[in-house]
Amino acid sequence: MTEPVPHPEARLQGLCVDGPAGPLISGLDLTVESGERLGIVGPSGSGKTLTAGALLGLPLPGLRVSGDRYLSPRTGALLQESASALNPLMRVGRQYDLALRGAGVPRAERRERIDRQLKELALDADTRRAWPLHLSGGQRQRAALGLALVTEPELVVADEPTAALDALTQNEILLMLRRILDARATALILISHDLALVARLCERVVVLGGGRIVEEGPTADILAEPQHPTSARLVDAARTLGVTA
Ligand SMILES: Nc1ncnc2c1ncn2[C@@H]1O[C@H](COP(=O)(O)OP(=O)(O)OP(=O)(O)O)[C@@H](O)[C@H]1O
Ligand SMILES: [Mg+2]
Repeated sequence: MTEPVPHPEARLQGLCVDGPAGPLISGLDLTVESGERLGIVGPSGSGKTLTAGALLGLPLPGLRVSGDRYLSPRTGALLQESASALNPLMRVGRQYDLALRGAGVPRAERRERIDRQLKELALDADTRRAWPLHLSGGQRQRAALGLALVTEPELVVADEPTAALDALTQNEILLMLRRILDARATALILISHDLALVARLCERVVVLGGGRIVEEGPTADILAEPQHPTSARLVDAARTLGVTA
């Protein structure tokens, strides 16, 4: 028996993003293989969200983007600024239904998929009928995550998915996300300024500083022995927050 050959779910080669005042991202390369979980960490302003935007092919008005990009057509995204993932003018279930329809899931299966996804995220079945603004922050963020997951993507890109939440809620959501990704062997790009958080899900990490990769490698190695000052600062911050390497 031969092992199935892994294939990349996402790849950037020589990504450059230039703004009116100069370069914001300079020659960034990254690859995420099937089922792999990659963290992108870096201080505020280092280019994490821009990298995600460029990878996802989002419009970046006023910026010049160049380089090669490949992204699995089956990618789910949860972007920074939590509420933006859910349309406040549409009930949660309707948004899931539209995503499933877009993915070609037949009507007869959609209701069951929606109920199952809500349940996996410990959301009541009633959440299907709920308006986003009537949910608590934690429920809303789980509902937004569900919208990225309901189509069973091959890759999830999540930018600071729990930044606005208290530590207990954050912990709960990370555990649920990890369980779901494990069960489905879904690849992940997890973006955060918090190396401790990334360490809980991602075996490999790239550290951004000033729009470049300053270090990359196994998360455990970087936590134990950061080579670049930017990484060292992130490790210190993670330790201060109570994580021991
Ligand atoms: N549309 C834009 N026009 C001009 N500059 C931009 C634009 N978007 C981002 N930038 C700049 O690019 C740099 C990287 O921004 P980015 O949002 O990627 O940072 P980040 O690492 O995600 O930070 P944070 O942790 O605060 O979310 C910043 O200096 C930012 O001001
Ligand atoms: Mg950001």
